[in-house]
Amino acid sequence: MPEPLRVTALVSGRGSNMAAIARAGLAGAIGARITAVVSDKPGAPALGLARELGIEATTLEPAKDSGRRAYGEDLLRVVDAGRPGLVVLAGFMRILDPVFTAHYAGRLLNIHPSLLPRHPGLHTHRRVLEAGEAVHGCTVHFVTEELDAGPRIVQARVPVLAGDDETALSARVQRWEHIIYPEAVGWFAEGRVAMRDGIAWLDGRRLDEPVLRGET
Ligand code: GAR
Repeated sequence: MPEPLRVTALVSGRGSNMAAIARAGLAGAIGARITAVVSDKPGAPALGLARELGIEATTLEPAKDSGRRAYGEDLLRVVDAGRPGLVVLAGFMRILDPVFTAHYAGRLLNIHPSLLPRHPGLHTHRRVLEAGEAVHGCTVHFVTEELDAGPRIVQARVPVLAGDDETALSARVQRWEHIIYPEAVGWFAEGRVAMRDGIAWLDGRRLDEPVLRGET
């Protein structure tokens, strides 16, 4: 058996996606292990959750009045020290400097709570409800310099139901996040998914559209 892929997770909040990937690794369902967690927020619940799972967790807050470049360089040093083969953004609510995205190009994934390219950015559940859309979901994609615009790997679709509020809708989306994010990390660990020339490939096939999962 090859050594599992070392994965560092960057988090800012609850950490449920980090935990879903970590548990899939610990269960042997994927050939990857989260070996380090880095938060930009000292109070993030994800830090405690990581430690409960036996993962080294550290906080790196941006220095006061420092810019995005300085934080990107500091983060690069901290993440590099963990020698990851893959970095996953798991609710990391900070725009990464190009110095970081360029260094980890092709080894950097994100989960976003919408059916990209629809609704990049924040407050996706609210925006879907306000627009009266019938379908919503989440996307795992490679991270490039442009926010939420890197090549998509897998998407899960869920229905928007009558009476949904942001809480109900985000819970339905998150159930699928916890399925498709470990799945995509598992593909990466097996060398099945890669980014080349700004395009995502799965099993040697160009992914012009992401793999589709979900309930609709
Ligand atoms: C997830 O729903 C993820 O899609 C979203 O933050 C949440 C983090 O939850 N990410 C973004 O909005 C990124 N722009 P978690 O901390 O429980 O994994």
